[in-house]
Amino acid sequence: MSILIINIKELIQVRENNVTIVKGADMKILPTIKNAYLIIEHDTIVEYGPMSDFIDYNAEEVIDAKGKMVLPAWCDSHTHIVYAGDRSQEFVDRINGLSYEEIAERGGGILNSAEVLQNTSEEELYQQSLKRLNNVMQLGTGAIEIKSGYGLTVEAELKMLRVIKRLKKESLATIKTTLLAAHAVPKEFKDNKQGFVDRVVSEMIPEVAQSKLADYIDVFCEKGYFDLEDTDRILTAGKAFGLIPKIHVNQFNAFGGVALAVKHKALSVDHLEEMRAEDIEALINSTTMPVALPSCSYFLSIPYTPARQIMDAGLPLALATDYNPGSTPSGNMNFVVSTACIKLRMTPEEAINAATINGAYAMGISNQYGSICRGKKANIIITKEIESYNNLPYAFGDNLIDKVIIRGKVLE
Ligand code: NIG
Ligand code: FE
Repeated sequence: MSILIINIKELIQVRENNVTIVKGADMKILPTIKNAYLIIEHDTIVEYGPMSDFIDYNAEEVIDAKGKMVLPAWCDSHTHIVYAGDRSQEFVDRINGLSYEEIAERGGGILNSAEVLQNTSEEELYQQSLKRLNNVMQLGTGAIEIKSGYGLTVEAELKMLRVIKRLKKESLATIKTTLLAAHAVPKEFKDNKQGFVDRVVSEMIPEVAQSKLADYIDVFCEKGYFDLEDTDRILTAGKAFGLIPKIHVNQFNAFGGVALAVKHKALSVDHLEEMRAEDIEALINSTTMPVALPSCSYFLSIPYTPARQIMDAGLPLALATDYNPGSTPSGNMNFVVSTACIKLRMTPEEAINAATINGAYAMGISNQYGSICRGKKANIIITKEIESYNNLPYAFGDNLIDKVIIRGKVLE
């Protein structure tokens, strides 16, 4: 199968093969080619350039993108899209005055989702999750990370991870899997958190790693959930089985989790709504990607990640959705990019870099995804007719996507 796209008003995020991350002031630069063409063969981008250099090419499908822009599909490096049911009642409880933390203290929140998931069949969980995955692909997401974490027992975590494995097999999307064994302390371990951490370390991690069901290890490092000592133990145990850390940290409280993650050479540190100077300091000269989740801040009405401070320190930044039933029931990367511009004061160039190449880095796949590059996978968004790429974040809440191509296939 081959696709030729001609008359592209602007081909966005064109990079050399060796660019796998964009940092600091460089994030303001978004390389483009005006009036361009692009050729896809099978699942790969094979050629592109200005129309003036175009020599005839015999493609099976020709798309005329006059007035339209082409950019890499979104790379969403942090989601929990495998879950059962929803938490719309808790949404209403929060409107009526309860906080996210108060709901969790009453046994709602993650424990609520875990109970529903434990009582949902694997087939039903797959069907509910597939619907969400197909929906976010239509919204332009081509590569996505999915976490476990609503199981809380060995058996239910394995069920979630098998569902992710099946999505991986049956969907065109590229999927990376994270074991979030320590997401909350289950009811049975209410007064014995240590016992639960022991189980994560001695049972869950070995079993999941041996069945090759995960790429990464995550912990919710937060007051009332898992402290620095628990996080240290779990990351150490995960690493011993080849699972690289990607952690939830500094969502409500900052107490040293970022430095700990950097010590463990985490691929990413995610949330970062609460950032102290020493947290930013810890990231300098590291290989860890900071990840902001602005639609979580929006939905919970909590502070936004200080993106400007992070980038002004010369650091990279990625953007992801955090799609989950409790804090972010939305997987729309277009809304994330808009919110990053509106609330985190990122420029459109910075936000697009953060949602493509840096998102791919935060999944360990930026050598294959996240930019327009010969040899990279053909995951592409074709926009509707728009004036400039600034319109993507500007027209918040609108859908300016005309077509999505994932691994060389145009989505129906
Ligand atoms: O990333 N913060 C921890 N985990 C999720 C929310 C989980 C939930 O509320 O179900 C998050 O926001
Ligand atoms: Fe999350």
